[in-house]
Amino acid sequence: MARRGLKGGLHESDAARCSRSVYFHSMSTGHDTGRGPRMTIRRLRAMADEGERFACLACYDFTTARWLDRAGVHLLLVGDSAANVVLGYDTTHPMPFELTVWLTAAVRRGAERAHVMADMPFMSYQADDAEALHNAGRLLSEGRADSVKLEVDASHAPLVEKMTRAGIPVCAHIGTRPQQWALSGGPTVSGRRRVEADRIVEDAVALEQAGAVMLLIEAVPPGVSERVIAATGLPLIGIGAGDACHGQILVVNDLVGLSDWVPRFVEPVADLGPRLEEAGREWVRRVAEGRIGGRAYTSLDSASLEPGAERVQKTPRNPEKEESVRVVMSEHQEADRNP
Ligand code: KIV
Repeated sequence: MARRGLKGGLHESDAARCSRSVYFHSMSTGHDTGRGPRMTIRRLRAMADEGERFACLACYDFTTARWLDRAGVHLLLVGDSAANVVLGYDTTHPMPFELTVWLTAAVRRGAERAHVMADMPFMSYQADDAEALHNAGRLLSEGRADSVKLEVDASHAPLVEKMTRAGIPVCAHIGTRPQQWALSGGPTVSGRRRVEADRIVEDAVALEQAGAVMLLIEAVPPGVSERVIAATGLPLIGIGAGDACHGQILVVNDLVGLSDWVPRFVEPVADLGPRLEEAGREWVRRVAEGRIGGRAYTSLDSASLEPGAERVQKTPRNPEKEESVRVVMSEHQEADRNP
């Protein structure tokens, strides 16, 4: 099924906005979070149908997810790019599956409204279909992801079909697939030649027929994305794939200026790297100069703090670790209330 193109203009009437939001409300199966309804797959599909672009970012932790969710980012991907930007590897291959489950759960806790998509790392779905199903299921049940993403082509249609039958929403990542870089010799652009472009469109159609709920296309000429949009009825997320895509995704570190190098399709919107460096330098200076700032706690028993006097040590009431952590936490909070 072919999908309508995106709205060109940025402005629209209040009436149009209002009627669209009523439409979205009736489409949504997700509860309202107070900051608007949850970004369910139905809602993302409705946005794509209406020509309303959605914003996606790859991010990997609770705090970042919380800020991005507050900003209204529609979809957060716990990308296997964590292998690069969190763990410091030069490929995505070493991304551990267990860590993906943990990071997905962390992002989920930070994302009240955004759709959370978990990226299946290298070798978590390629070797065996049963293992792939089990792993994808864990990303939903333990990571609480809304969907999973797999780097696939038409040959993976049977696996996508099995996942769909099991109730797992799959986003099919097509075009350039970084998990293939050992084979292709490194970062590449796909679909420059006609035969390659045809194959990408065929992949998209086969994966839609297998039940994929979304497509993500990476590093292709814009014309290839346009052909995929014309040939399928799924929301298409693009990265370095032109403006026609319904959604756009980048790695958050690249967007906010934390990366030393960014791909040509990235235009950072902030310069947080140098700011973080400056903050670090300022802390080094303050510590060296003995001006750490903040507010010091006052002593309740000054005698106990005189030179030579023994410090009062509180024994946790309960030796269990969790209990002692709770006591320490509440003591800190109490001390902050009575400085
Ligand atoms: O892992 C990742 O970050 C990705 C990109 C599409 C952003 O797959």
